[in-house]
Amino acid sequence: MKIFLDTADLDEIRRAADAGLIDGITTNPSLMAKALGDGDPREHFQKICDLVDGPISAEVVALDAEGMVTQGRELAALHENIVVKLPITEDGLRACRTLTGEGIDTNLTLCFSTAQALLAAKAGATFVSPFVGRLDDVGHDGMEIIGEIREVYETYGYETEILAASLRHPRHVLEAMLAGADAATLPSSVLYQLLRHPLTDSGLARFMEDWKGLGKDL
Ligand code: G3P
Repeated sequence: MKIFLDTADLDEIRRAADAGLIDGITTNPSLMAKALGDGDPREHFQKICDLVDGPISAEVVALDAEGMVTQGRELAALHENIVVKLPITEDGLRACRTLTGEGIDTNLTLCFSTAQALLAAKAGATFVSPFVGRLDDVGHDGMEIIGEIREVYETYGYETEILAASLRHPRHVLEAMLAGADAATLPSSVLYQLLRHPLTDSGLARFMEDWKGLGKDL
């Protein structure tokens, strides 16, 4: 299962990439707005591509299909690892078909139902991003659609990868794995929560204490 970092913050990306913890990056306009300041968005995407050798989702901000295709082509031209992120709307699906036909990878985002994921796959999406946490926020069981999408894609032979998104805690990541997601995108906080365990910390402290008692160097 691939792990992507859901951020546009270059320090966070550098840290996780240097540790070999991540397979790619996802961004969205909110994350870009937070990280960018007065920087240039395309240069920022370029910097992310220089830090991580894997799929880098860069989202369009046009709402019409023609505008999405134009922005998508320009984003894809920045680097071979760019995946053009498009909203699951009628225009987004139209843009997806066009960009897919040109060999450009796409990530269909803001997916909140299995039906939307089916339409994304039919449009040729490379990835579909179901937002688990935001469904939980409005009283649904967000994880349910990950399993349903897996079943539909298996039944009908769609190759679109399921990229579980809006994951808020380690349990979400575990459940997404068990439900058959191909990839999960996580904020840094959740990535390091996955890594840390109090028994690892206390076990290591005990090892170091016992070794110190020996009074020898290794
Ligand atoms: O990148 C999309 C998604 O992961 C957003 O998560 O926590 O804002 O719902 P969140």
